[in-house]
Amino acid sequence: MLSVLVGNIKGGCGKTTVATHLASAFAAAGLKTAIGDCDIQRSSLNWLRRRAGTAAAIAGHDWAKDLGKPPKGLDRLVIDAPAAMHHKDVEDLIDIADVVVVPVLPGAFDEDATSHFLARLAGVKAVRKNKRVVAVVGNRIRPGTKVSEHLDVFFGSLGFPVVARLRDSQIYPAMAAAGSSVIEAHDRRAKSYADEWKPLLDLLAKAAG
Ligand SMILES: Nc1ncnc2c1ncn2[C@@H]1O[C@H](COP(=O)(O)OP(=O)(O)O)[C@@H](O)[C@H]1O
Ligand SMILES: [Mg+2]
Repeated sequence: MLSVLVGNIKGGCGKTTVATHLASAFAAAGLKTAIGDCDIQRSSLNWLRRRAGTAAAIAGHDWAKDLGKPPKGLDRLVIDAPAAMHHKDVEDLIDIADVVVVPVLPGAFDEDATSHFLARLAGVKAVRKNKRVVAVVGNRIRPGTKVSEHLDVFFGSLGFPVVARLRDSQIYPAMAAAGSSVIEAHDRRAKSYADEWKPLLDLLAKAAG
């Protein structure tokens, strides 16, 4: 079983978008997949409820109050982390994760918060000892804008690899509302966005061995 934690202390950076997209990609590939939703807003669980009856099955676990045990027999567990993560929460979550995916938006406040979070991650023993894969994902990128260019400068200063860059598009709120993902929606427009997830999905496939 591969367990993927999606986290950052910045709200609105795309944690739920990334968590639901990864779960959707895994499930669509035939892997037995579950989401552990640790956020009191339960956005991932609400997304699950909106899924079409014909969509690939994903189990949902409400871990907003207490971190549950990863169910047995799973291929992939995706953990949607809360924004308000305390030191202890970060350590507990990293304990059960193989990979930590950190979405980050362009903008000074987002970069500041992400620096904070990555420094905290770097201080966790399992990460320090290279026992966890950490992957940063740039989200809501608007190519050619100053903030997006600045994000690239910021990325150059990180001690962690940046594995994917996702463009800003209204397709994401639309997929959130439909309980779907750009990966599962097979039209041409979705496909151009789905391609941007490939490096992250490849890294996760490699981590799964
Ligand atoms: N690449 C993107 N382009 C446009 N909107 C996005 C993108 N990623 C996320 N969003 C939207 O931004 C909002 C916040 O994203 P969400 O995944 O809920 O963040 P978090 O879980 O970190 O709070 C949602 O409305 C979501 O649909
Ligand atoms: Mg969320």
